[in-house]
Amino acid sequence: MPLERFHRSSTSAAARKKFTAVTETIPSTPTFPKEPDRAFCVAPMMDWTDRHCRFLHRRLSKRALLFTEMVTSAALVHGEPARLLEFDPCEHPLAVQLGGSDPDELARATRICDRFGFDEINLNVGCPSDRVQSGNFGACLMAEPDRVAACVTAMRGETDRPVTVKCRIGIDDSDVEKDLDRFADAMAEAGVAALYVHARKAWLEGLSPKENRDVPPLDHGRVHRLAARMAPLPVVINGGIGALSECREHLRHVSGVMLGRAAYHDPMLLARVDQEIFGDPRPPITLEQTGRIMADYAAGQMQKGARLHHVTRHMIGLARGLPGAKRFRQILTMDVLEEGAGPEVIGNAFAALKKAGEPANAG
Ligand SMILES: Cc1cc2nc3c(=O)[nH]c(=O)nc-3n(C[C@H](O)[C@H](O)[C@H](O)COP(=O)(O)O)c2cc1C
Repeated sequence: MPLERFHRSSTSAAARKKFTAVTETIPSTPTFPKEPDRAFCVAPMMDWTDRHCRFLHRRLSKRALLFTEMVTSAALVHGEPARLLEFDPCEHPLAVQLGGSDPDELARATRICDRFGFDEINLNVGCPSDRVQSGNFGACLMAEPDRVAACVTAMRGETDRPVTVKCRIGIDDSDVEKDLDRFADAMAEAGVAALYVHARKAWLEGLSPKENRDVPPLDHGRVHRLAARMAPLPVVINGGIGALSECREHLRHVSGVMLGRAAYHDPMLLARVDQEIFGDPRPPITLEQTGRIMADYAAGQMQKGARLHHVTRHMIGLARGLPGAKRFRQILTMDVLEEGAGPEVIGNAFAALKKAGEPANAG
């Protein structure tokens, strides 16, 4: 029994009592043993892919695999899991991403995530931020494949759901051929269900996390080669992919594509994913339908105590490239902060778009 294993391995009776109390407050949810379809994924992004963002993304694509923001194993084990992990059932298929490097703690965090009913539990081995490095997890762990393998093994011991890893093609002066192969082999041996690979190295010295998403050169070919070598283990490619036509091209070489910034900044791209990637015959949701759904959603969330801009901040890219997009963004970022602003402000933003698109306003 996993919980017994925790009880045996933990040294502190107080810690045991606290953990048991935490897990007992979590409802047991049904298991979805099926592997999620990873053909198209939206990347985990701290501060961005929160539950309001995921609600929007799920309205646009029924099939994309969504990811939470990274949650550290320590925060889950010692904090308030319900606050950190809460999600709407409509968000399935949904993977939770964990950050950590202690197998025992990750095992305990996995057990908590398992009970929340996520479809997959993913370990972050790709994030280069200082905060993450000082906790000795994230991309720096690529130098320690044995430790990551021990983490994966410990996590798998606590769940029947797929455990996966998200990594880079390397760090600093690592050898992108040999070292990445060695890392991937260790993950396969530990039983990961899939690897998500950001196709650039992380340079751990001298670059900010943001620069580390742009400066180290992309090497999509390296991920294609890894996918061929690791087959049938699914390998999902990530990094710098911006269009569905590019996704289709990558899918000739890999099991899936993962988009981060392009999906966030241009969410209407997701509306075409079910048809163009998954072959779903149903017509895509329209921008107007999306606006109405999000206004209703915002109303419901405000009743539960959310602030309007918590929802609207994820919507500003919806009008990307359309006449009136600037006014649309202003309304959703500024007007929503005014005293007494309610979900009708979302309607105003869409009305501004409509007005800008009318023939009298052309030119
Ligand atoms: C704001 C932001 C936050 C991110 N947070 C995470 C994170 O929590 N975990 C993670 O594995 N990657 C994180 N990433 C990296 C993305 O998941 C992705 O690997 C990266 O943006 C490259 O993909 P893209 O070029 O499609 O954006 C973050 C990226 C951004 C832009």
